[in-house]
Amino acid sequence: MPGIVVLGAQWGDEGKGKATDQLGTAVDYVVKFNGGNNAGHTVVVDGEKFALHLIPAGILSPTCTPVIGNGVVVDLEVMFAELADLEERGVDVSRLRVSPNAHVIPPYNKAMDAVNERMLGKRKLGTTGRGIGPTYADKMNRIGIRIQDLFDPSILRQKVEGALAQKNPEIVKLLGGEPFTVDGVTNELLSYADRVKPMLMNVSAEINHALDREEIVVFEGGQATMLDIDHGTYPFVTSSNCTAAGACTGSGVGPRRIDRIVGVAKAYITRVGEGPFPTELFGEDGDWLREQGGEYGVTTGRPRRCGWYDAVVARYATAVNSLTDIVLTKLDVLTGLEQIPVCVAYDVDGERVEDLPASQSDMHHAKPIYEYLPGWSEDISAVRSFEELPANAQAYVKRLEELSNCQISAIGVGAGRDQTIVRNPLV
Ligand code: GDP
Ligand code: IMO
Ligand code: MG
Repeated sequence: MPGIVVLGAQWGDEGKGKATDQLGTAVDYVVKFNGGNNAGHTVVVDGEKFALHLIPAGILSPTCTPVIGNGVVVDLEVMFAELADLEERGVDVSRLRVSPNAHVIPPYNKAMDAVNERMLGKRKLGTTGRGIGPTYADKMNRIGIRIQDLFDPSILRQKVEGALAQKNPEIVKLLGGEPFTVDGVTNELLSYADRVKPMLMNVSAEINHALDREEIVVFEGGQATMLDIDHGTYPFVTSSNCTAAGACTGSGVGPRRIDRIVGVAKAYITRVGEGPFPTELFGEDGDWLREQGGEYGVTTGRPRRCGWYDAVVARYATAVNSLTDIVLTKLDVLTGLEQIPVCVAYDVDGERVEDLPASQSDMHHAKPIYEYLPGWSEDISAVRSFEELPANAQAYVKRLEELSNCQISAIGVGAGRDQTIVRNPLV
């Protein structure tokens, strides 16, 4: 079972970082295939907390090679700051490898992120402000800057010049201040070249060779199914393919290389930023979930919007990604509830709907239809086998499994690396 995708099955922050980290020493490569430092993955190792943004969670497993694939957008300043921080904490960062085909987030695209949000006004997306959207837009528009351009100063300069001719007028008009200069941006990007050089790897070739040798490769997704540019709640999405197919295009392997596709889902659901969210809770229940679950963003510190488990979203994630397994996280957070609502279908303008609506306005009108499952009060954070869970917690997991059309192979009962119940080992 060498090729394993780990991705978000909801709207992000499901605990993908922990799930990837947990596969740990069994894994040879962890390849990040999409997104950039909009991600925030918290991993707790022996009580020590690491917040990773751009660097794959594999960096914390000394035997594996962490890789940034071509599908990622790289803010070089952030990457080196994150590496310095990890190194200071005793992590060996020399193993990181980067695809020369990955795109760079130039400083002007962080400004463009703010420009776009300002232009949208009330219709803004609530992005992380990291320049993600404008950088993927440049990629599609074929005016993007790739890591390999850092090694050809004259091409780099031409690209920066072309981009600034388009972007500076908007930046100056909407944000005020000084325009970016071609020299300033080019020199800043060139200043990273020597440090990036030893990290370069022909990712597609190496990963295909590794899979030929039967080594284990984990493809680590950022963001999540419902934030996917094609399959999420567009336009309230990120700008990359976070779904399983993105693992192939974002790293350079074909679909037949993927043996297992693991969707990480919380035992409830959260969302950051704007956009439709049928099971969202506004009152005390939402506040309770946010406090119990510590639902504040790792990247922006924003309070996360919280709601009950949405099985319509889960079934959609199973289908869109061909999930083979679900890792259900944060079951411990639900401890203490007398009953737990689970959304089994939507009511869209009076009609019961089992599948995720294809139309965005139906999604905005969707009202959750709930089934109520009995809760449990016992502390489950030290439980390590399914049978030891309280009967109602077991029944809750089994019902979610049924409603989600996918086996639940592992269950999180705390943030620690060991706080997991494994039902079907993933490697
Ligand atoms: P990611 O972006 O998908 O990697 O998820 P985040 O790291 O943004 O958010 C998940 C949060 O939940 C982190 O703070 C994790 O440490 C924490 N976490 C992960 N799994 C569990 C779990 O099973 N129980 C509890 N209580 N916390 C968890
Ligand atoms: P991880 O990997 C949750 C959301 C933002 C915003 C939208 C677009 O930690 O699960 P962007 O900056 O990507 O253009 O913002 O996507 N978003 C996330 N929400 N978890 C994330 O990453 C996210 N990355 C982006 O809040 O609504
Ligand atoms: Mg996160």
